[in-house]
Amino acid sequence: MKEKINALLALLVWGVAFPLFAQLPVYLDDSMPVEERIEDALSRMTLEEKIAMCHAQSKFSTPGCPRLGIPEIWMSDGPHGVRMEFVWDDWTHAQWTNDSCTAYPALTCLAATFNPELSYRYGKALGEEARYRGKDIILGPGVNIYRTPLSGRNFEYMGEDPFLSSVMVVPYIRGVQENGVAACVKHFVLNNQEKYRNEINVVVSDRALNEIYLQAFKAAVMQGGVWAVMGSYNKYKGTYCSHNDTLINQILKGDWKFDGVMLTDWGSAHDTDEAARNGLDLEMGTWTNGLTWGLSSAYDQYYLARPFLEKIKRGELPESLLDEKIRRILRLCFRTNMNRARPFGRKLTDEHTAVARKVAEEGIVLLKNENEFFPIQPGRYKKIAVIGENAVKKLTEGGGSSELKARREVSPLQGLIEKYGKENIVYSMGYASGAPDYNRELPSGLDADSLVASAVEVAKGADVVLFFGGLNKNFRQDCEGDDRESMDLPYGQNELLDKILQVNPNVGVILISGNAVSMPWLDRVKGLMQSWYLGSEAGWATARVIGGEVSPSGRLPFSIPRRLEDNSAHYFGARSYPGDGKNVYYCDDILVGYRWHDTRHIDPLFPFGYGLSYTRFEYGKAHVDRSAYACCDTVQVEVEVANVGDMDGAETVQLYVSQQNPSLPRPVKELKGFQKLFLRKGEKKWVTLNVPVQDFAFYDDRQARWVVEPDRYKLQIATSSRDVRQTVEVVVNP
Ligand code: BGC
Repeated sequence: MKEKINALLALLVWGVAFPLFAQLPVYLDDSMPVEERIEDALSRMTLEEKIAMCHAQSKFSTPGCPRLGIPEIWMSDGPHGVRMEFVWDDWTHAQWTNDSCTAYPALTCLAATFNPELSYRYGKALGEEARYRGKDIILGPGVNIYRTPLSGRNFEYMGEDPFLSSVMVVPYIRGVQENGVAACVKHFVLNNQEKYRNEINVVVSDRALNEIYLQAFKAAVMQGGVWAVMGSYNKYKGTYCSHNDTLINQILKGDWKFDGVMLTDWGSAHDTDEAARNGLDLEMGTWTNGLTWGLSSAYDQYYLARPFLEKIKRGELPESLLDEKIRRILRLCFRTNMNRARPFGRKLTDEHTAVARKVAEEGIVLLKNENEFFPIQPGRYKKIAVIGENAVKKLTEGGGSSELKARREVSPLQGLIEKYGKENIVYSMGYASGAPDYNRELPSGLDADSLVASAVEVAKGADVVLFFGGLNKNFRQDCEGDDRESMDLPYGQNELLDKILQVNPNVGVILISGNAVSMPWLDRVKGLMQSWYLGSEAGWATARVIGGEVSPSGRLPFSIPRRLEDNSAHYFGARSYPGDGKNVYYCDDILVGYRWHDTRHIDPLFPFGYGLSYTRFEYGKAHVDRSAYACCDTVQVEVEVANVGDMDGAETVQLYVSQQNPSLPRPVKELKGFQKLFLRKGEKKWVTLNVPVQDFAFYDDRQARWVVEPDRYKLQIATSSRDVRQTVEVVVNP
């Protein structure tokens, strides 16, 4: 009997205890709500473990909590591909043999496609590669507004218009994050120039901040649901943006309800109290070996490391500030490296290559095409001179943190040789730059005069000249850390073009850059394309567009001014750009880009939204679903577009809105909708653009809020910011 009782008791104890032992801790239990898992993990962590998680442990990683099995977080730049690996503690490439990537076109190109679906595919492909490479955060996309053509990082951003950047950034983020990899939108905010970026204080009105500079970040958070945001190096209202109470606590986390991780740019934190209190969650860094404490403990000296720990211990800062940061970091872990359901990723697939090529093809912008200079079908010319360094230079390298080790980069020259045959192409370099270097200009070592002389010889004997010039990723070109010094083409390209044009008038120019350049030779060349840093598939895409397999459909994501002084930032002189080293005053206020050109009646050389095609499109009569709307309605604009030319092609229908009698000055027009439409030769289709009346709003700084005023509004259907095809008027009622 006793034995039976004992056996029963044992069973009972086992029955109660086993489920207890078998049960996972809440934070590891997938079936539990994430917020409960966060609180559970947090409650198990020591103060030191929490401190460790909110600053770097290497160039691109942070520790998890090894005792609890919470993994490290690994990051990579971004935004155009997954960057090569670095050694643990400094900026030396690790020389791995398996860290090459698919290089996607730069974000200016993506913006120029005006195709949000492609942006999704871009993000998805990039996210897959990041995931496969073991990255939890990809440090991109960048959405700082293109304010001046001199800014060294414009190529990493999505142009001058907040609406275009907003529409394009959201699907990119979704695509990345579907892989269980966090996108990290950057650089929050007002990092619109590289010159003085580490110390400059930006003085900008609330209106311009809200209408122009914050918009794409807001869309990234509120529509894209981005999981991480990177602060910028510069200051706003005298405080560094990476720990700025107004920007982070009030706007980002308060108004927009951002629940992810706010991290520094590398080395953009400057103060422990501000970092602790003003919303920064994670500190990453640059010069760990510049500290006097030595390499092994360098990370302990970060503002959010030992100094933070000591302040908490001394009671100078409450631990609750740290807990809030850790909650966010854990949330990111549950979304990424602790998400058991996330896919495994892939890299270097044919699909990735196809995405890279498609974006490149759709982004190239045809700016001038006299007498159908383009397309150049095979057989049209016997001898094609290809001149210019950018026909061969590797443009995935250099530029700063967006540099890539591309598995392959097809050059334009290679693409053209494939298309037209080796026997029909003769190449001459014409000019040369040195190798890219992060913060210095390296000489090329080649003799400039003989390069010019042989290019002119080659041009003389050719039926047609294709000149591949523009900028590159060298220091003070399109490169992080500093700005260009003028809008002129570098390396003597203008003089070279002049000489070429003297011996051969049949010249087409392909500019490769992420910025506008001045074009003194424009009237004399027959054709002009604005191309971009196109990544792995550059050569194939370029050849397909030049050769006419693909009709160009890219549109300028920024205005090209006639002169630098015509650009809004430069119009007001040095105070407005680059500033006095301490402050830069955004005197152009809300009139950035085409808003400036149109409102001030300053003709650009090429307007925002502009781009030609090999085919022609005709618009039918546009109509709206009603003539009067309330504030919460959506206006539906419909218009029929026909491809009446000789080729399949794509048209980007743009919708600009103007308010008739605003109570505050507004730009004469603002982009509020667009749609890219693919039409076969002879085909026509209806396009429907849905614009919520809320999008007619402006930021009323008198009331510190967005308002839609009852008024008459003009809806302009356009093919660029300067080519309005039709206007429809609607009324917004109180
Ligand atoms: C750049 C960031 C980049 C980071 C890490 C910084 O210098 O401004 O955009 O993500 O370095 O490489």
